[in-house]
Amino acid sequence: MTKKVLVTGGAGFIGSNLCQHLLENEYHVVCLDNFATGKIENLLPLVEKYPTTFQLIVGDIRNFEDCQKAVEGVDYVMHEAALGSVPRSIKDPITTNDVNIGGFLNMLTAARDAKVKRFVYAASSSTYGDSKSLPKVEDVIGRPLSPYAITKYVDELYADVFARTYGMETIGLRYFNVFGRRQDPFGAYAAVIPLFVKKLMAHESPLINGDGEYSRDFTYIDNVVQMNMLAITTKNPEAVNQVYNTAFGERTTLNQLVGYLKEGLAEFDPKIGEIEILHGPNRVGDIPHSLACIDKAKNLLGYQPKYSMKDGLKEAVKWYWENI
Ligand SMILES: NC(=O)c1ccc[n+]([C@@H]2O[C@H](COP(=O)([O-])OP(=O)(O)OC[C@H]3O[C@@H](n4cnc5c(N)ncnc54)[C@H](O)[C@@H]3O)[C@@H](O)[C@H]2O)c1
Repeated sequence: MTKKVLVTGGAGFIGSNLCQHLLENEYHVVCLDNFATGKIENLLPLVEKYPTTFQLIVGDIRNFEDCQKAVEGVDYVMHEAALGSVPRSIKDPITTNDVNIGGFLNMLTAARDAKVKRFVYAASSSTYGDSKSLPKVEDVIGRPLSPYAITKYVDELYADVFARTYGMETIGLRYFNVFGRRQDPFGAYAAVIPLFVKKLMAHESPLINGDGEYSRDFTYIDNVVQMNMLAITTKNPEAVNQVYNTAFGERTTLNQLVGYLKEGLAEFDPKIGEIEILHGPNRVGDIPHSLACIDKAKNLLGYQPKYSMKDGLKEAVKWYWENI
């Protein structure tokens, strides 16, 4: 029987990719979004192509009634709606807390009441906080380094308590620096890859915070989509009520990243290969290195990431070149 999936934050970068994949695979999809950072353009092709299987609800996860309406008749929830960005949370911790914790609790409660089969949610590698151990394994975390990190950790605690108290099935996916098509290059809180691509395409110098030797486990969107699909479909009882690193499992320094971006974009515009890179001070709340151990996801969910960082970057660069 056809399954219905609610994607909250479906107008955003990750959410719109999840909606698209689900619809292409014959799921019915409901999207709940208030367009705080998401864009209608991310959804218009889906609205047109899937008039009977795609439903868009414009609403706010801080409003419990909107959450109740969105979960009606839904089998699975993929909860992506949140305010991302560490700097945004440092500037405005109250709104980040309201959306990322208050909104999360609303969605979890509405999903419990509607007896959804499983609640899969976007957690974050920021939960590792100041832990120095590398690679990151799921059960060794440090102290949070930002309000955003606190919110994502509290979400994990709520999901765990709801699983034990109400018998819900939850799975948290700790995303590590996701990138790919439709990640927004505009706005004050743009992520590093779209921001640098936009700068380079405009023949401007990207500014690296620090000496560029900080590293990240940059993760292509299609690997993240795969993890979400495994999370809603797994029949392994041990795989449920867990959190998983969602990453490729390799790290790349910021200096390397800019090198790859210049190389990739220079194929479209050779002048980009000559652009100089600027360096500024380190940013508050940034951890020096981030690298995931993905063994747990491989063992319990059967995760096999298809895109290395470099393969994903080729796809992303091509998409930005054609679309911005
Ligand atoms: N992109 C990453 O690298 C990354 C890393 C770790 C975790 N995450 C998490 O993944 C999720 C998706 O992130 P993204 O990169 O796609 O961000 P995004 O900003 O593109 O998407 C978030 C979506 O949530 C919506 N939203 C925000 N507040 C809302 C509210 N109050 N009610 C309803 N909708 C609301 C936005 O409009 C947007 O469409 C978030 O939970 C984020 O914290 C992302």
